[in-house]
Amino acid sequence: MVKVDLSGAEQFFTAAGPDYALAELAHKTLMNGSGLGADFIGWLELPRRIKETELQEILDTAKLIRSRSKALVVIGIGGSYLGARGAIELLRPIPGKDDPKVFFIGNGLSADALCDTLDMLGDVDFDVNVISKSGTTLEPAASFRIFRGLLEKKYGSKADEHIFATTDARKGVLKSVADRQGWKTFVVPDDVGGRFSVLSAVGLLPMAVAGIDVEKVIDCAIEEFKSLSVPSKENPAWQYAAARQSLYGKGYSVEILGCYEPSFRFMAEWWKQLYGESEGKDHKGIFPASVEFTADLHSMGQFIQEGPRNLMESIVRFTESRRAYIFPEDGENADGLNYLAGRDMADICRVAADAVKQAHISGGVPNIVIEVKKRDEAGFASLVCFFEMACAISGYMSGVNPFNQPGVEAYKKNMFRMLGKPGAM
Ligand code: PA5
Repeated sequence: MVKVDLSGAEQFFTAAGPDYALAELAHKTLMNGSGLGADFIGWLELPRRIKETELQEILDTAKLIRSRSKALVVIGIGGSYLGARGAIELLRPIPGKDDPKVFFIGNGLSADALCDTLDMLGDVDFDVNVISKSGTTLEPAASFRIFRGLLEKKYGSKADEHIFATTDARKGVLKSVADRQGWKTFVVPDDVGGRFSVLSAVGLLPMAVAGIDVEKVIDCAIEEFKSLSVPSKENPAWQYAAARQSLYGKGYSVEILGCYEPSFRFMAEWWKQLYGESEGKDHKGIFPASVEFTADLHSMGQFIQEGPRNLMESIVRFTESRRAYIFPEDGENADGLNYLAGRDMADICRVAADAVKQAHISGGVPNIVIEVKKRDEAGFASLVCFFEMACAISGYMSGVNPFNQPGVEAYKKNMFRMLGKPGAM
C-alpha cells in the first residue's frame, strides 16, 4: 500500500481540517454502489475478474507477439492508451533485448507524428493492438485504417492474424468489423470507463508485450483493492481525498503532481486524465498539472515558489531506488563537487527532495507526499489502485459524478461538422 504523508499540508488546511466523515460517506457510497454513475464502478472488481477470465489469453497473445514481431503498434487515445504507456515508461524505460518496441499512435491527429512513427517502424515484422471502447473515436480509427493497410500490404491474406482489437463486448463499429474479419478481440467491460481501464486488457496486453509481469500486477492489485476497501482514517485513499478537498476549500485550486523519476512522466499524464475528467465538471474541480523534478525546478520552480498561491503539490516518492551510483572523488576537485564524493546519487536526490519540500512549504505551497516502495510491478499496482480509489472518493466528496465525461462531446460536434462528416450538424 502507498503511504500518504500530510505533515507538509496540515498548516494549510481549512480550520476544520480534512473531512474524514465525508470521506467515509463517499467511500461507503462507492463501495455499496449507491452513488452517481454507479454503473461504472466495475474497475473495483477488475483485477479479480480479469484473473478469472481473459488473463491467460492476454499472456498467450503477448507470447505470440513477442515471439514473431519486433514491434507492437498500440492505437488508442485517452484512457485507451495512457495507462499502458505510463506503465511501460515507468517499468521498462529501456526495452530488454527480446522486447518488441511498443509504438503509441492514434492519440492525436498530427501528420508529423504519424509519419515519424511510420518511419521508426520501418519494415520490421509487427502486430497492431487497436483499442477503443466505443469503437468510433476519430483519432484511433483514422490511424487504424492506415496501419491496417500497411499490414495488408505486408502480410496479404494473413494480415488479420496480426490485428488484436480491444473494444466493447457487443457494440460499435470496431467490434462488428473485428467479428467479420475474425480478429482476436479483448473486452473493455461495460461497467468500466476508459480512464479506469488500465487493469483490463486495455493496459495489460501492451504491458505484457513490453515484458511487464502482468500476473504480478494483477495479484498485487487484488490485495491493494482489498486493503483500500477498509473504512478507516488510516486508509490512504481517504487521507489523500480528504486532504485535497480541504485544501480546495481554502482556494488551492491547482494540484501539481511531481516525481523525481523521469520515467514517471506518463504516469502523471494518466493521473491528469483520471482526475481531470473525473472531477472537472459542474464548474468545479481541482486542475491537475504535473512536473518532473528536479528538471522542472529550473523551469517551473520560480512559479511554484513565488507565483499565485493557489497551488498544492503532491509528490510521488519511491523509497527504494532501483539502482545505485556512487558519486566519484576527483583528485583536482576543479568543479568543487568533492563534498558529494562517496555518496549514492539516490541519496543526493533524496536530500534534494527534502530541501525542495521545505522551500515550497515555506513559500506557501501545501505538500502531500505519496510514498511507494519500489518502481516495480507491485509499486505500479499500488499507485493505480490508490489513485483510482482516491479519485472516486474525492469526486463524491465534491458532489460530482466521477465516472462520466459529458464535456468531451462539445469539440467533437464542431470537428465533425467542420470536417464534413455525413449527418453531423
Ligand atoms: O476515459 C475515457 O472514457 C476517455 O478518455 C476515453 O478513453 C477516450 O475518449 C477514448 O475513447 P474510446 O476508447 O471509446 O476510443
